Amino acid sequence: MNWWETDFISVRANRLQIAGQDATDLAGRYGTPLYVYGKDRILERYARLDDAFERHSALPARICYAMKANPHRGILRLLRKRGAWIDAVSPCEVETALKAGFPAERILFTGTSVSRADLRSVFAVDGLTVNIDAAEQLDLMAEVQRELPAKAIRVSVRWNPGVGRGFNARVITAGRRSSDGTPIKFGVEAKKVLDVFAGARKLGFIPVGLHQHLGSGWVREDFGMVRIAVDRMVRKAREIEKAGFPLEFLDFGGGFGPRYLKGRGVFPVEDYIAYLSDAVAKAGLSVKALAIEPGKYMVGDAGVLLLGVEYVKESYGNIFACVDGGTFNTVPRPAIYLSAHHEIVNACRVEGQSKARITVAGNLCETGDVFGRERSMPLPGSGDVLAVLCAGAYCRSMASNFNLREIPREVLI
Ligand code: LLP
Repeated sequence: MNWWETDFISVRANRLQIAGQDATDLAGRYGTPLYVYGKDRILERYARLDDAFERHSALPARICYAMKANPHRGILRLLRKRGAWIDAVSPCEVETALKAGFPAERILFTGTSVSRADLRSVFAVDGLTVNIDAAEQLDLMAEVQRELPAKAIRVSVRWNPGVGRGFNARVITAGRRSSDGTPIKFGVEAKKVLDVFAGARKLGFIPVGLHQHLGSGWVREDFGMVRIAVDRMVRKAREIEKAGFPLEFLDFGGGFGPRYLKGRGVFPVEDYIAYLSDAVAKAGLSVKALAIEPGKYMVGDAGVLLLGVEYVKESYGNIFACVDGGTFNTVPRPAIYLSAHHEIVNACRVEGQSKARITVAGNLCETGDVFGRERSMPLPGSGDVLAVLCAGAYCRSMASNFNLREIPREVLI
C-alpha cells in the first residue's frame, strides 16, 4: 500500500481509484482539469474529531469548519447536516454559509483589517458572533453600532498568545514575528486582552469567548509548541474570568492537516483534543463549549485534481510532463509557498518499470508554474491522467484566472 492511500484514494490493478471509481473514467466523463472531492472522506474526518471530543471532553464541541479552505456549496451543506459550525472570515463567507443553511448562531466571524463595511454587514446578521482582532477595532465597532437599532451583539476576542506554528513562514499566524521576520498582524496582544473585554462590554457588546489560531499545516513535531499555546490560552481564560467576564467558549482555531509528504509525521489530532479538553477541565473555568476550526484537516486529502498530459517534453536533459492546467488556476500552493508539496500520481499507471525524473509543468507563463519538480515517477505518455493529491483545501479557494485561464469544474462524489 502506498503511503498516500486512504479510504478515498486507492489503487486497483495499477490504476488510481477515487472513492471506488476509476480516476480516468471520471476524467473522461467530466474532462480535465477536474477537482474531485469525496463526501465520505469529509464525513470520516468530521467523525474523527467529533468522536475525540466525545471521548475526552465533558463539554460539547463546536467543530467550526474553516470554510476558506473550500467553500464548495455541497461540502458546506454536507457539514451543516452533520452538525458543524462555521469559521467565516469575510462578509461573503458569512453570506455563503447562511445560504448553505447554517444558522447565524453557528457562525463565528473572524476578520482581519476589518472595515466599517464589513462590520455593517456582519452586525446585521442576528445571532452571529464577531471575533475582535484588534483593540483598535473597537472604535470602528462603536461607530457602526451607533448607526444600528439597539441590539445585543455577541463578540469574542482573538488573542495572539505570543507563539505560533505553521508549515511555512507565510502561514504562521501568532507570535511577534513569523519565522522569516514578517511582523504578525493577527490578534490582540496578551497585555491588551482584558481591556478589550472591558471596552467591548462598556460599548454594550456581549463578550462570550476567547479565540486563538496559531497557523496552518502542523506536523507531529509541532505538538510541543501547540501544547504551550494551549496552556497559555487556558491561563489567559482564567485571568479573564477572574476579572468578571465568564466565558461561554474557548476556540483553539485550526492548524492540523492531512499528510502531504511521505517523510512527515502526522500531527496527533486525538492527543491534541485530549490535551486541550483536559487543560480546560482542570482549570475550573465556567466555559460551556470547546471550539476548533479545522480547514485543511477536514477537506485537504478529500480532494484531488486530475490533469491530462498533453505531451512529454525533453529540454537540456530535463523531462517535462506538460499538462492541461496551470498551478495558479488549480493548485496554487506550490507556486505560492515553495515548501508546499503535493504528491502526484499517474492514474493510468501508478507503478511503472522504468522511472524518470519528471517535472510536471502547467500551462502558464511562469517558470514557477510546476506542480511537482523532478519527481521520480513512471514516464507518462500523451493522454495519461495525472492526479495531484491533497487538492481539497486551499486550492480551488485560492485559484485565480491568471493568464485568463479557467478555474476547473468541481465534482463531489
Ligand atoms: N481559523 C482561522 C482564524 C484561520 O485563519 C485559519 C486559517 C483556520 C482557522 C484554518 O486553518 P487550517 O485548519 O486550515 O490550517 N493558504 C494556506 C493556509 C492559510 C490558513 C490561514 N488561516 C495554505 O494553503 O496552506
